[in-house]
Amino acid sequence: MRRTLTLAALLVLWISPVAIAAQPADPPPEQPVPQMFVTADRCTPCHNGLVTPDGSDVSIGADWQVSIMAHSAKDPYWRASVRREALAHPEARQEIQHECAACHMPMSRYRAKARGGTGRIFEHFEAGPQAPLASRLANEGVACTMCHQISPEGLGTEESFTGGFEVDRSEPLGQRPIYGPFEVDAGRRRLMRSASEFEPEQGQHVQGSELCASCHTLYTHTLGPGGEVVGELPEQMPYLEWRHSAYRETRSCQSCHMPALDDPMPLTGVLGLEREGFSRHVFRGGNFFMLRMLNRFRDDIGVDASSAGLMESHRRTAEHLRSSSARLRLEEAAVEGGRLGVDVVVENLAGHKLPTAYPSRRAWLHVVIRDADGSVVFESGALEADGSIAGNDNDADPARYEPHHQRIETPDQVQIYEAIMVDPNDEVTTGLLAAIRFVKDNRILPRGFDKATAHEDIAVQGAAGADGDFTASRDRVRYQVEVSDDAGPFEVEAELIYQPIAFRWAHNLRQQEAPEIERFISYYEAMSEVSSEILARTSGTVR
Ligand code: HEC
Ligand code: HEC
Ligand code: HEC
Ligand code: HEC
Ligand code: HEC
Repeated sequence: MRRTLTLAALLVLWISPVAIAAQPADPPPEQPVPQMFVTADRCTPCHNGLVTPDGSDVSIGADWQVSIMAHSAKDPYWRASVRREALAHPEARQEIQHECAACHMPMSRYRAKARGGTGRIFEHFEAGPQAPLASRLANEGVACTMCHQISPEGLGTEESFTGGFEVDRSEPLGQRPIYGPFEVDAGRRRLMRSASEFEPEQGQHVQGSELCASCHTLYTHTLGPGGEVVGELPEQMPYLEWRHSAYRETRSCQSCHMPALDDPMPLTGVLGLEREGFSRHVFRGGNFFMLRMLNRFRDDIGVDASSAGLMESHRRTAEHLRSSSARLRLEEAAVEGGRLGVDVVVENLAGHKLPTAYPSRRAWLHVVIRDADGSVVFESGALEADGSIAGNDNDADPARYEPHHQRIETPDQVQIYEAIMVDPNDEVTTGLLAAIRFVKDNRILPRGFDKATAHEDIAVQGAAGADGDFTASRDRVRYQVEVSDDAGPFEVEAELIYQPIAFRWAHNLRQQEAPEIERFISYYEAMSEVSSEILARTSGTVR
């Protein structure tokens, strides 16, 4: 009873014209639009409490709440990054908020746009649980009524990219559809509508990669002096990479990132039917580091998700990385005439480049060779405690970067799989809105990806383009180092290490000063020793 009253009271607030008028800087709406979104606490009472017979909790709300997408607006790295862009391009401060909110604060931004206004970001930063609905929706990030209201219209087309999804703008609460994969009977539809004001409706488009592509295909505007748009950067392209790979025919984004249960499971804790193909809302990806950061600085950041839940999500992400992203092996190993030669072969198992998406992600080879006494005779790619890579030019000097290598002969050469951006003056940058193109993109290609026919937005850039050993799903790197023949046998150990937020990307934020930037860099420095995870390792003896 108490809950019903609270819901009713909130509802009055949401739809009342007073609440709408309380956002003074919006231009008068050309057309009034209904309230389109609600917070997840309207959905989770029924879609939680789901436990498999063997006792694992697969609750939809609980899984979502500890995912990265539920934190897209509170993410301290994102906040620092938006602040940096707004300070670096002050004339475009408003446009930047509109642009960066599209996917990270999608619900408040979509509604503002539908009403003829623009997306806001900074005013939501200090908002607490008592804040107006727009702020609470903003801070929920990518939530239930966002994904489940995206209409099939235009999905997969260019218009749908960069947050260009469509949501119905005409129906009021009470008549709004929530799309899902199943057919739901009239009684259960009514039940959900009466409690949540949304009605489940079958829409198979939710199972297509094109739904994810609307936010996971990102073209960023390059800003010149005075904030004018001078170009466009294909910043995040996992969907287009996937579409150019063998997975296009076999695996959707959902099939890897929302793994389906083998056994039937009801969708709700109340009156559920056993359903085949229940997909978990874990959205496991690569950013174990941010999940850990959210937990460690939870009070400071204002995180609601439980500590145990976030650490479970961290564990799941690290486990996914170790089991499903890459394989390594050694080939052609020999010692001859004072030289040890060995090929390290890396294989990408993901459905897109490895790494993919946000350009701060990098993976690299750490190779150590020891002699018969166990003394290190060669090492390339060691991780330092501050999160930098020994021998990497870009970590040492922001103006330079490590090229793609076919052959590694000295410890200051490191094979790093990454995307390096430059501005219109060809200077290396990590400024998202300063960048106009990539000068290096040797992220490992997925299976079936033909680099010769790839569209320029997903093309290999730099020396990897001409490297015949850099092909679909793999790279082969020759290590050739001087050794004394009689010091063997030698032990070769190779690791592929992954770091979601590279050293340079964190530290370059300092080019601007703001509390969000200071805060994030202090978190990064406190945690740099746990900023990476080993994706794969192998070793062998060379005589
Ligand atoms: C089209 C949707 C979209 C838009 C628009 C967008 N982002 Fe993102 N952003 C994403 C996605 C998706 C990821 C996660 C990708 C990944 O994990 O590699 C992300 C990740 C990030 C991260 C890394 C967060 C972390 O914890 O590692 C930062 C920083 C960021 N975005 C900043 C921005 C800024 C600044 C803007 C505006 C200039 C912006 N984003 C606009 C979709 C978007
Ligand atoms: C990032 C987008 C996204 C978010 C956020 C999201 N869902 Fe889903 N949901 C999906 C997709 C995609 C499917 C279908 C998966 C498939 O079958 O391939 C789905 C499926 C479902 C199903 C059917 C059962 C199942 O898991 O297969 C229910 C019920 C559901 N979602 C409820 C919710 C609720 C409640 C929330 C908020 C707590 C939520 N969803 C948040 C994308 C999302
Ligand atoms: C009163 C309980 C209740 C609430 C609250 C509730 N739902 Fe549901 N939901 C149901 C029931 C019952 C079904 C149908 C289950 C079935 O047929 O197996 C359902 C089905 C779904 C489906 C699957 C639809 C399909 O066609 O595949 C989605 C998605 C969904 N709900 C999302 C939401 C979202 C989002 C919210 C919050 C706005 C919400 N639910 C609130 C009870 C509820
Ligand atoms: C409304 C926009 C939106 C939609 C739709 C969307 N995403 Fe996301 N997704 C984001 C944003 C924004 C982030 C990054 C949040 C951050 O890092 O702060 C993200 C992050 C992720 C991550 C975590 C990446 C990491 O580095 O760990 C995964 C996995 C993911 N999304 C999968 C999906 C899948 C699968 C779908 C389709 C079912 C989907 N997303 C649909 C906006 C969206
Ligand atoms: C065959 C399984 C598979 C498919 C299909 C797949 N992914 Fe992934 N994805 C992975 C694995 C494994 C990782 C972790 C390794 C990595 O970071 O690339 C990952 C990581 C990610 C990340 C985080 C990447 C990072 O390094 O920040 C995002 C974002 C993402 N996937 C989005 C998508 C989208 C969008 C699609 C559909 C177009 C998709 N994935 C299809 C397996 C898959």
